[in-house]
Amino acid sequence: MTIKIIPTQAFHDQKPGTSGLRKKVEVFQSEHYLENFIQSIFDALGEGAGRCLVLGGDGRYFNREAVQVILKMAAANGVGRVIVGQGAILSTPAMSHLIRKRKADGGIILSASHNPGGPGGDFGVKFNMPNGGPAPEGFTNRVYELACAIERYRILDADDVAIDTLGETTLGDMAVEVIDSVSDYADLMEHLFDFERIRGLFESGVFAMVCDSMHAVTGPYAIEIFGQRLGAPYNSVINGKPLPDFGGGHPDPNLVYAAELVEMMNRKKGAPDFGAASDGDGDRNMILGRHFFVTPSDSLAILAANAHLLPGYAQGIKGVARSMPTSMAVDRVAHHHGVECYETPTGWKFFCNLLDNGLINLCGEESFGTGSDHVREKDGLWAILFWLNLIAVKRLSVAEIVRQHWQTYGRNYYTRHDYEGVDSGIAHQLVDDLRETLPGLVGKSFGGHTVKAADDFRYEDPVDHSVAERQGIRILLENDARILLRLSGTGTEGATLRLYLEQYEADRTRLGHDPQAALQGLIALSEELAGIKSRTGREQPTVIT
Ligand code: G1P
Ligand code: ZN
Repeated sequence: MTIKIIPTQAFHDQKPGTSGLRKKVEVFQSEHYLENFIQSIFDALGEGAGRCLVLGGDGRYFNREAVQVILKMAAANGVGRVIVGQGAILSTPAMSHLIRKRKADGGIILSASHNPGGPGGDFGVKFNMPNGGPAPEGFTNRVYELACAIERYRILDADDVAIDTLGETTLGDMAVEVIDSVSDYADLMEHLFDFERIRGLFESGVFAMVCDSMHAVTGPYAIEIFGQRLGAPYNSVINGKPLPDFGGGHPDPNLVYAAELVEMMNRKKGAPDFGAASDGDGDRNMILGRHFFVTPSDSLAILAANAHLLPGYAQGIKGVARSMPTSMAVDRVAHHHGVECYETPTGWKFFCNLLDNGLINLCGEESFGTGSDHVREKDGLWAILFWLNLIAVKRLSVAEIVRQHWQTYGRNYYTRHDYEGVDSGIAHQLVDDLRETLPGLVGKSFGGHTVKAADDFRYEDPVDHSVAERQGIRILLENDARILLRLSGTGTEGATLRLYLEQYEADRTRLGHDPQAALQGLIALSEELAGIKSRTGREQPTVIT
C-alpha cells in the first residue's frame, strides 16, 4: 500500500467554533475540504509515531465516508492504532470515556451536535485531547493556522475498512480496532448509579418514562441501558434508530424540536411520569416531568444539591461550575454547601481544566448540558440516569423535586430567547453597539432596575491562567437580575443572537409563575437596551427556552 501525497490549497474558513468545525455537508464534501482539516489536526499533533486515536460519530450523513478518509489519512500519518465505534457510531460522551479508559492520545468526533443532518444539513469535526475533553483554544488556533497554510496532505491508497465487523484488522502499518459502541459506556453508567434501585422503579409498575433519542446517536445506548440493563418496557425509548438525516428532524432536545415528546408529556390523560431527550451526538439532555419542564439551569442546581444521595457521588460536591449565561441557581447550592462555584465562558472545553485538577466534580450549561468528572464532555444519558436515580431515591415526581428545591433555595426565573438566522452584519453591529454603551449604563435606573455592572465577559482560567476575552455581554442589575447577550459560535447560517434573562425570587409565595410572565419587565428592558426586535425586524424569537 502506498502513501499518496496530495497537493492542495488552503480553505480560509476552517476556524473551529464553540465546539469544533461545523459546516454544511456540501462544504465538507467539496474536494480536499475534510482532508485539509484532518491533515492540519495531524500536523498540530506533531511528530509522534504510533499514536492511538479513537474515532466515531453521531451517525449523520457523510459519517461513514468521512471515517474511511480519516482512517486512511491516519495510517499515512504514522498513527499506530485507531479504535473505531462499530458502524462509525460513538456518542460524544462515549468517545470521551473511551479516550480516557484506553489511555488514547486523543479522538476525532464526527458530529455537528444538535444541528440538522442529511445532504442539506450540517457536518462537523471535533478533536478531543488525551484527557477526553474538547481541544482547548490553543490547540484549535494552531489547527486553524496550519489549515490556512496547508499545501499537501497524506493519505494511504487502500480499500475501505470493514467498520461494521467487530475485531481487529490492519490498514498499512496501523491497527484498526472496531469495538462495540455501547458496552464500555453502559458499564460506566452502571458503576456511577444505583441500577438496582432504578430497576425497582420500573418494576413498581407505577412509573413510566419516555426517552426520545430523536433518531440520533443515543438510540442504541438508551435501548441497552434502559431496556436491557434496567428492565424498562420496550416503548420507553422512542425514535431509537439512528438515521443519517435524523428522520428529517432537528436533533436538539428543547421544547420546540422535541415536539413529539413534549406532546406525550402534556397529554391530559396517561402522560408518562418522566420524559427525557438527547441530541444528535448524545451530550445534551432535556428533562420533563408530567406537564412539567425542568429548566436546564435548575436541573444543574438540583443535581448539585442531591449528588450525595447517589453512589458515584456519595462524597458530595467538591466544587461546581456553570457557564456565564447559565442561571445562578447552582451558585446558591454551592454557597449552601460551602464549596466554590466557577463561572466560565460558554463551551464545555472551559470546564476541563477545573475537572482535571479536582476543583469541581459537577458542571453544566443552560443549553441542556450537564456532566461530571466521569468524562470530559457533557453527557445526556448520564443526566437522565441521574434524574432517574434521584426519583428512585426520593420517590417524588419531577415537579415535586423541583418545587422542593425552590422552597429551599428560592427560584431563579430564567429564560433564553434565540434569534436564529439573523443577518450576520446586523447581529455583529448590534452587539458592538451595545458593548459601546456599557460603561454609560452603570448606575442608571430603568423602571425599578438599577445597573450594578456591565461588561463583556472575560475569563482567566484559574489553572493555566489562559485568558478568553469577549465571551458575552453582561448587564448585572441590583435586584439579583441579569440581562446577557452573545452571538452563537456553533451555527452555519447567518448569525444567532442569544438573549438570556434571569431574575431571582426569594419570596416563597411567588415561585409558581410562568417565567415569560415573571421576566416580562426584563424582556422589555432588554429590548430597550439592545433593540433586537427593532434592528432585526423579528417579531419574536425563533426558540424560547
Ligand atoms: C451552544 C451552547 C453552548 C454549548 C455549545 C455546544 O453554543 O449555547 O452552551 O456548549 O452549543 O453544545 P453557541 O451556539 O451558543 O455558541
Ligand atoms: Zn451535542
